[in-house]
Amino acid sequence: MVRELFNSIAERYDLVNRLTTLGLDRRWRKKACEMALGHLTVERPKILDVACGTGDMIMCMKKGLEKRNTAAEFYGLDCSEKMLEIAREKVPFAELKAGNAEEIPFPSESFDLVSVAFGLRNFSDRERSIKEIHRVLKDNGLLLILEFSRNEGFLGKLAWAYTKTVVPFIGGLLTGNREAYNHLWRSIGAFPSPEELSEEFQEFGFERLLLRWCFPRIAFVMVLRKV
Ligand SMILES: C[S@@+](CC[C@H](N)C(=O)[O-])C[C@H]1O[C@@H](n2cnc3c(N)ncnc32)[C@H](O)[C@@H]1O
Repeated sequence: MVRELFNSIAERYDLVNRLTTLGLDRRWRKKACEMALGHLTVERPKILDVACGTGDMIMCMKKGLEKRNTAAEFYGLDCSEKMLEIAREKVPFAELKAGNAEEIPFPSESFDLVSVAFGLRNFSDRERSIKEIHRVLKDNGLLLILEFSRNEGFLGKLAWAYTKTVVPFIGGLLTGNREAYNHLWRSIGAFPSPEELSEEFQEFGFERLLLRWCFPRIAFVMVLRKV
């Protein structure tokens, strides 16, 4: 179901993101990359972006590493062929595979960094995906999570109302699939808080290095380490 949903909106996915977040999604990815790359100490890291979509996170990571004069090997995984088609044009330097986060098609202990941006919430079996990410990470490898979450407080409530009304309206208008953008707020509503999520990760062998909210407190960045 999730694969079909993203196949149906792939062509306009980036445009809807830019418009509905007023370009903030780029800043969130940049902040997330900077936070993870700041903890990366290896020379030529191998990086896997799970649920890579159209490749924005890979692009952002590449730019961040170029600033640090560091070369890297980039890999991406996504279950939607249509999202991957777009990614192949945007990030031709990355090795992109179609596949499921619950069965990551890479050998154990392959990567120094795994990232998941706005993907975790969509996984049908989160526990299995987390175990798989743990398996493919090298010892002490890093996991970067960028995800939406509901938040209390004025800004959080405003952002939530916006996500439930304006986003499905614009998303529906541009992609013809309003239901896909209703799925967005429903999945955010059903998703654990960052604190609950970080406890879940600890159960599966991760330690949390940092947790930061992104303006306007509807998205958060979490960096964890495999222990
Ligand atoms: C909201 S998009 C995020 C895309 C990208 N990471 C970004 O930052 O824009 C979620 C992506 O997760 C992918 N996805 C959802 N469930 C998946 C799974 N179980 N395995 C692999 N990819 C999955 C979808 O196909 C979609 O491309």
